Amino acid sequence: MALDIVIMAAGKGTRMKSDRPKVLHPLAGVSLLQHVLNSVSAVHAERIIVVTGHGADQVEASLPAPKPHFVRQLPQLGTGHAVQQAAPLLHDDGITLILNGDTPLIEAATLRSLVEACGGTKLALLTVILDDASGYGRIVRAAPTPCDPEPGITAIVEHKDATPEQRAIHEVYTGAMAAPTAQLKQWLARLDNRNAQGEYYLTDVVAYAVAEGVPVVAAQPRRVTEVLGVNSPQQLATLERLLQRDRADALMDAGVRLADPARLDVRGELQCGTDVAIDVNCVFEGTVRLGDRVQIGANCVIRNAVIAHDAVIHPFTHIDGDALGVSVGPGSLIGPFARLRPGAVLGAEVHIGNFVEVKNSTLADGAKANHLAYLGDATVGQRVNFGAGSITANYDGANKHRTEIGDDVHVGSNCVLVAPITLGAGATIGGGSTVTRDAPAGQLTVTRARQLSLATWKRPVKPG
Ligand code: UD1
Ligand code: CA
Repeated sequence: MALDIVIMAAGKGTRMKSDRPKVLHPLAGVSLLQHVLNSVSAVHAERIIVVTGHGADQVEASLPAPKPHFVRQLPQLGTGHAVQQAAPLLHDDGITLILNGDTPLIEAATLRSLVEACGGTKLALLTVILDDASGYGRIVRAAPTPCDPEPGITAIVEHKDATPEQRAIHEVYTGAMAAPTAQLKQWLARLDNRNAQGEYYLTDVVAYAVAEGVPVVAAQPRRVTEVLGVNSPQQLATLERLLQRDRADALMDAGVRLADPARLDVRGELQCGTDVAIDVNCVFEGTVRLGDRVQIGANCVIRNAVIAHDAVIHPFTHIDGDALGVSVGPGSLIGPFARLRPGAVLGAEVHIGNFVEVKNSTLADGAKANHLAYLGDATVGQRVNFGAGSITANYDGANKHRTEIGDDVHVGSNCVLVAPITLGAGATIGGGSTVTRDAPAGQLTVTRARQLSLATWKRPVKPG
């Protein structure tokens, strides 16, 4: 039986007080809508339809290929009206699963159980019991009788339309339902907006189903947190911490030592070997792989990088591989206060110290740049020592040029290596040199003026 999925994402999200469409706000670095689509992608669906409206161009452009189907809802007249826009795209002989675009933690297993509960013949609602149900649509059931202690659902009543008795109900509709498509289409065509909000309520289909004798059943998510929606910055922050705590728990289950699971942010995928230790306030973005026994100091931000076994990243280090990636070799020591940029490829036991920036450069095993240096577009040989304050001048104002540094080169402090340039193996560059031509292997190259002292020189004095 064909399954079509409709995700409602046309609402404005007024309480976010933002120019950005609500469903595009990021949670763990990924938009709310993309989270929903990620869960949906694990359920086999014929067609995925996203209803857009507020900020439609932005929302549609934000999703990567393969894009779902989009239908526009302009103006937004309610959730029933939203699904009406998608109706022409739904397969009559199947099931339609309807979801909110602002409920990012919903899990694929929950979606599957909701579709299963529908089975193509029933109307299945995802419900939860909440201590504080205010704002939600209430699940109204017939009065229990001795022969029917768990009576069927008769309606969903929106908070604003509910009587005081109905407001006392704790079972609420979460915004997710699965319905037989053919009947759903008929129900959608009959919706009206005679209610407290003057909207076309999707939830009114429940009463139609009951009237037609279509069974209405409820399914529950594994955890209540799955169905929490985002309507305000506070709720977004609450969900962010819930999701991050789940990720921290999963890492600890795999043996990763986190100094504080509440002070970790994984905004992408973090893979760890054994005996990895991560100190407080670290942020991991994109895809990051940490080898066995890697240690990450406090306050590091690491994006798109591979860090090999036994490397130590000292505190306050920023590693950003962006599209090219960064790779740190085994046993390397990085930081504190180091910056590795896209294309930094470090071999084994490389040392990069404080206030050293490395971009698009390869450093072979044992190379060191321990203080205050810039290596850009450079190839650095084994055991090279790159002195404090030295830089590769890789940019002539128009083009970038490469610097080649052979094995065992020693670059003194405060040198400027003007690229393109090659320093032969074993060369030594005297401190304070600006080097514009290739330096021969094995020799000392110095470009600064000779030191001289003037015995007869006198300090100027004030006249009078
Ligand atoms: C809806 C339900 C309510 C349920 C709650 C759960 C209805 C009438 N009510 O209420 O029973 O407890 O969700 O969170 O369905 N949207 C559109 N177009 C519209 C209106 C909304 O696409 O015209 C989208 C929103 O972007 C959002 C979703 O539908 O993703 C839910 O809309 P929202 O206004 O938050 O519904 P609630 O009033 O919270
Ligand atoms: Ca809502």
